[in-house]
Amino acid sequence: MFDPNDIRHDFPILNVKVNGKPLIYFDNAATSQKPKQVIEAIENFYFLKNANVGRSIHTLAEEATELYFQSRKKVADFINATPEEVVFSSGTTESLNAIANVVAEKFLNPKDIVVTSILEHHSNLLPWVKVCKEKSCALKVVNANKNWTINIEKLEALLKEGAKVVSLTHVSNVLGTINPIKEVSKLVHSYDAILVVDAAQSVPHMPVDVKDLDCDFMAFGAHKMLGPMGTGVLYLKKRYADLIEPWNLGGGMIKSVKLLNEVPELSCCKVTYEDTPIRFEAGTPNVEGAVGLSAAIDYLSKLGMNSVLFHERQLVKYLLENLKGNSFEVYGPKDENSITGIVSFNLKGIHAHDVAYLLDKLAGIAVRSGHHCAQPLVNILGTVATVRASFYIYNTIEEINAFIEALKEVEKMLK
Ligand SMILES: Cc1ncc(COP(=O)(O)O)c(C=O)c1O
Repeated sequence: MFDPNDIRHDFPILNVKVNGKPLIYFDNAATSQKPKQVIEAIENFYFLKNANVGRSIHTLAEEATELYFQSRKKVADFINATPEEVVFSSGTTESLNAIANVVAEKFLNPKDIVVTSILEHHSNLLPWVKVCKEKSCALKVVNANKNWTINIEKLEALLKEGAKVVSLTHVSNVLGTINPIKEVSKLVHSYDAILVVDAAQSVPHMPVDVKDLDCDFMAFGAHKMLGPMGTGVLYLKKRYADLIEPWNLGGGMIKSVKLLNEVPELSCCKVTYEDTPIRFEAGTPNVEGAVGLSAAIDYLSKLGMNSVLFHERQLVKYLLENLKGNSFEVYGPKDENSITGIVSFNLKGIHAHDVAYLLDKLAGIAVRSGHHCAQPLVNILGTVATVRASFYIYNTIEEINAFIEALKEVEKMLK
């Protein structure tokens, strides 16, 4: 196990004061802070290696290209994929939109059924709403069971009806509950359907192995796992990578472009794409982002993802024990072993935004309040907004003690 107090030295931002108080950062499900190792890796790229990748043959360009490819390999190893199956994107949202569009184009026909769940972030709901409308498919939203994971019986009923695609979050960004993706993938594949996984809240917090889970597509972003913003990953199982067409076209992703006739005005082009994953990365990629993500993975790998999850659960356990009074409504399971480091709650009778506002102003505590881009789920919880405290490797029990004290103060002020 690691000591979060040692880790804190690597995070310059944890020394800043917010409203005169040392920052307590409990908004990690929105984005994590960055250690100096990641910031330095990005800085070094620009100081020492900056050139465009996959194009020029000069030494600097070759070094930059090598760095970019090493970063892809690092990502692939981290999730147990092969480098050909890892496509860089701008984030989870872009990855999920691309997946929805290509899956719809290649595999969906009018009247087909696509399944998603009530637990989804809007990024794994709205793209499917759009493509289902365009393709005249039916989008079915499966409810959760009493543990706030997907209701498997309902899912199976839809697969029996012939559902073609299931797109599901691995971990709920509101409740921290973990869907049984391995079980789901066995079920989905036994009906020859496709499984897409939104791993935005799982890859940063627990071991994730795409071969073991056996999902067909997966999306996550760098910025929730110590890496930079504007960088994400789209995992495509090799079998599908070879079947689908590139969704972005342009420089850097072709083997050849040839005119079919010597007279250009009379001609059209014959285009041969590069192999995967290059053919899915048209244009100049976000090399600094890939390099930063690689440094973030080095950092997390040293700690070990099992230890990361264990640490978060210790914090959740401690917080849940202290939120037991009558004043609080805690949403989702109360057992730390079935969730990651996310706790959603309300101070009864007080709007979540008021609580978050005062925590920030009185105590320098950053939490998120609102519907967390998962409005259908928050409505099913019987509210319009929750306060969400979400933890990461640098958070401590002392910070939770300060949080609990601050909540008492907020309650006194507002009740
Ligand atoms: C479960 C889940 N999916 C998707 C996203 C979207 O991620 P991004 O905004 O980084 O693209 C988030 C971000 O909060 C999330 O929690």
